[in-house]
Amino acid sequence: MGIKWHAHCILHLLFFILNFQTNNAAVKRSIDMSAAYSLNTDDRLPKSVLPISYEIHLEPNYEECTFSGLIKIKLSWAADSKKISLHAHHDLNINDRKIKMHKINQKYGDENSTDYVAVLRGSRIPKKNIYVVYLKETIMQGTECILEIPFDGNIWSSAEGFFTGSYENTTYFATNLRLNNAHRLFPCFDEPGFKVPFIFSITRPKELVALFNTPLNQSTEHPKLNEYVIDFFEKTPPMSTFTFGFFISALQLYKNTNITTFSQPIIQMWTLKDDENQLEETYIKIVTIYNKIKHYFGTHIPLSKIDVVCIPDLPLARPVDNWGLLLFGKRDLLRKGLYDITHELIYQWLGSWVTPNWWNDAHLNKAIASFLASDIVLEMDGGVEFNGKYPMTTLYSLYYEFSKRYPHSRITGMKQETISHKTELVLRMLNFTLSKKSFQIGIRNFILEYQYKTFCGDDFWESLNSQSLKDGTLKPHLNVGVIVNTWFAYHRLPVVKVLRDYTEKTAILQQKVYLRERPHDVPEQEKMLWWIPILLNRQDGLNFSSGCPYLWMENKKQINIQNMPEKDQFIIINYEEIAPFPVNYDNKNWKMLSDFLQTDNGRKQIPPYTRAKLLHDAWNLAFAGDLSFSAALNMTLFIKYERNHIVWNPVFTFIDQIGRHIDESEVHAKFESYVIFLLAPFYEELDEEVSIEDNWKTDIRTLTKRFLCLAGYKPCINESEQIFEIWQNTTNPNHEYPEASHYLCPIFKWGSLEKWQFGLERVMQFPKSRKLSERTHLLKALAGCPTQPEKIERLLKITILEDHSNFTDNDKFLILTSLTSGSSHYSLLNFVSTNWMTLRQKFKNKTNLWDHLIGSATGFFLTQKGYNMVYKLIEERAGEFDSAQHIVEKSLRNIKEETKWSEENIPVIEKWLDHLLANI
Ligand SMILES: *[C@@H]1O[C@H](CO)[C@@H](O)[C@H](O)[C@H]1NC(C)=O
Ligand SMILES: *[C@@H]1O[C@H](CO)[C@@H](O)[C@H](O)[C@H]1NC(C)=O
Ligand SMILES: *[C@@H]1O[C@H](CO)[C@@H](O)[C@H](O)[C@H]1NC(C)=O
Ligand SMILES: *[C@@H]1O[C@H](CO)[C@@H](O)[C@H](O)[C@H]1NC(C)=O
Ligand SMILES: *[C@@H]1O[C@H](CO)[C@@H](O)[C@H](O)[C@H]1NC(C)=O
Ligand SMILES: *[C@@H]1O[C@H](CO)[C@@H](O)[C@H](O)[C@H]1NC(C)=O
Ligand SMILES: *[C@@H]1O[C@H](CO)[C@@H](O)[C@H](O)[C@H]1NC(C)=O
Repeated sequence: MGIKWHAHCILHLLFFILNFQTNNAAVKRSIDMSAAYSLNTDDRLPKSVLPISYEIHLEPNYEECTFSGLIKIKLSWAADSKKISLHAHHDLNINDRKIKMHKINQKYGDENSTDYVAVLRGSRIPKKNIYVVYLKETIMQGTECILEIPFDGNIWSSAEGFFTGSYENTTYFATNLRLNNAHRLFPCFDEPGFKVPFIFSITRPKELVALFNTPLNQSTEHPKLNEYVIDFFEKTPPMSTFTFGFFISALQLYKNTNITTFSQPIIQMWTLKDDENQLEETYIKIVTIYNKIKHYFGTHIPLSKIDVVCIPDLPLARPVDNWGLLLFGKRDLLRKGLYDITHELIYQWLGSWVTPNWWNDAHLNKAIASFLASDIVLEMDGGVEFNGKYPMTTLYSLYYEFSKRYPHSRITGMKQETISHKTELVLRMLNFTLSKKSFQIGIRNFILEYQYKTFCGDDFWESLNSQSLKDGTLKPHLNVGVIVNTWFAYHRLPVVKVLRDYTEKTAILQQKVYLRERPHDVPEQEKMLWWIPILLNRQDGLNFSSGCPYLWMENKKQINIQNMPEKDQFIIINYEEIAPFPVNYDNKNWKMLSDFLQTDNGRKQIPPYTRAKLLHDAWNLAFAGDLSFSAALNMTLFIKYERNHIVWNPVFTFIDQIGRHIDESEVHAKFESYVIFLLAPFYEELDEEVSIEDNWKTDIRTLTKRFLCLAGYKPCINESEQIFEIWQNTTNPNHEYPEASHYLCPIFKWGSLEKWQFGLERVMQFPKSRKLSERTHLLKALAGCPTQPEKIERLLKITILEDHSNFTDNDKFLILTSLTSGSSHYSLLNFVSTNWMTLRQKFKNKTNLWDHLIGSATGFFLTQKGYNMVYKLIEERAGEFDSAQHIVEKSLRNIKEETKWSEENIPVIEKWLDHLLANI
């Protein structure tokens, strides 16, 4: 069973949730983004000679997987020059003696002119993909010429450039020229900024069909080869090289008499004959989505057709989106939901028709496409596909990432991805604050203005700006470009603090950078200021439907606002998470909010995203040290009555994170009682699982159950015991496995030593024929779940000390990692101290394991007691840590930081829990 989960939880994954599958289309990684940023800008071309159009003929040798071709490039001289630089991949062979060039007679435009210009030679610039043609004479600015270059190259089997693939027993030929692979296929100006028309022809076997960006114009018999024809295609509109593409195969045109299509453009689907009956729904979906996008942009794309090719096995992470010719893998195309196809189709307008000038603006293009896809999908299905998680999935992960001490330090590949996500959320902010209408018309104007052209980020913001000023949705002294630039200036987000003066009915708003992970010693934070829309709601006039800001906090540290409500009336800022920032209040305002939400009537008046935000902000701010835990925990109390899954989403992360920071078992036990108090009512209310139900119900049942089991909820323990016993009683337990694997953890945690031992034996006798992932799961649970020291001691003794042959070094890594996420680091540290000499000897030549052992044994304490223990070890074993010396030093610093947190917060948490538990 696949469980949908948020991106942020992947980072904070609970150790016992082992089989999570992430299948949220909205968080899919894009290969393009990191590739775009690794492109070498040294390879950019001078601007002295520019292309006006291309005419390309290709003669593939389909048997030998090679091709030859001839390109005629019409060029214009923007400055006097004696040479022409263009891109040509070193895979492409060019014989410079065959290069020809002639001038175009300016008066008659005679392209057949015999006014030849002698080519001296052509050569490559070392280590670059640039090919330079040297001419005998200097060509003057304003001259136009035709340059003819014959070339040949290879058809690849990896999906780059011109490639071949197969399905069933047939072969197809295709191109994938993104990002800059066009110059693998023909010499050209391979940058998105050069948008010119293409005329294309290609030789193909008679029995196959060739598709191109534009429709077929005519086919003629090949003059020499009997079995071949030459297809000539219509001239394309001006377009970038990366959107050029063709596809040659035996796939058939999908025809369905039930479907009547509109005239411009015709959408045609190409597929295997056998697949046709699966396609009706998909075809209708594509046509419907096309119309929705067209409606949003207010214009068709300027092509007469779009071919959508369904390839059984396309070896690519994402579809190939040539202009007018989309290549989808069958699985992607037939996947449920609307988002993916919407996202791909939007690139036909934004990307192909209107194009970022250079790849550093590709993230903006992507963000606009993602945002509009979400907007259109939300409108089409009312949010069913996102399961209520748009935009929270992205938003929460940004809150976590940007509030770290070192954002993006752990997964550097995600950096471009998070920047694009942030951009998407800024677009969402503008869609609300400028109004959907101004936003949409701004985008329509943008497309009209930049069609067939390229844009930079500022061009886009300016289109939104001028429309909003015109509509009056933005005050004259504001500017969209200025606003958004503060949101992109740092890899950070702001937090706004609201301090009300209840007698004067005023409030002070302060902004600062939002930091969650301690310590908050980020350099230059004083300088970080944002233009922040202040969206205000007040208890004496609740209205959540407007996205219009009360005012903009104009990159000032602090402002005052007047006319706040009476002292017994709360206010809410940034409701519905319209802009991506958390909000803190004074304790009194928090208290009024938490009291209000605990009443049925109150909850009804605050919409789900806002309820979720209040809860999420409160505990994260407390976690960061900016709010008292007493106020934050008060804010969680309404969850007991909450029945909306959107609001429940952040609850599990909260329990996980706070739970982990409560090191002492006594407080931990109280925390577990509190968890049961919050979760049990909803869980008990959810009926038994039925075969057809909403996804969210299944998700919430699974999650509440896991957390309840871990907190020691009696019905769960009993159920687990039973299931475990059935396993124990089977005649051949090595070949069985409890179906619902989440029952293992409660048993290993609370069950007897004997039951735990039974699990360990299963690992040791694990048959080779079974899936290794099941063994891993079992081993993780055996190490990560127990709290009793005897179990941990036994595990460490067998696996580490005795080096039992059933456990590999990888297993040891896994065990140590799992131990640290439980509460077993005391046992682990004791184990290390007691067996110091033996262990040090053992790992002499295994520095990795030694470092991991020391790191795991010392790095995870949170209190003074732990600090003292680690300190003692360091003193006793001074000079003996070898490669792990810096690791223990780092551990000690971290514990010190954590101890500060624990000393401040644990007593408050404990007192609050005592108070709660005494009153239930
Ligand atoms: C150029 O030559 C082609 C073929 O030789 C001919 O069809 C065409 O009319 C000529 N164009 C001009 C403008 O002379
Ligand atoms: C593939 O091969 C099988 C048998 O080898 C044949 O029946 C089938 O028609 C072939 N399919 C195609 C698409 O050629
Ligand atoms: C046309 O629609 C009818 C009713 O929805 C369906 O039964 C039939 O299979 C469809 N025909 C084709 C060719 O898809
Ligand atoms: C854009 O704004 C409109 C109107 O305020 C809203 O209905 C829509 O959901 C917003 N789009 C997104 C993707 O948030
Ligand atoms: C939390 O709620 C309790 C009970 O209503 C109250 O006594 C306490 O002051 C609240 N804490 C804060 C910080 O508001
Ligand atoms: C397993 O076997 C024991 C002893 O034979 C028995 O007492 C117990 O009820 C059995 N448990 C299950 C769930 O079958
Ligand atoms: C585990 O170790 C024992 C000996 O200690 C050996 O007989 C057995 O084959 C091992 N099992 C596996 C799965 O390696």
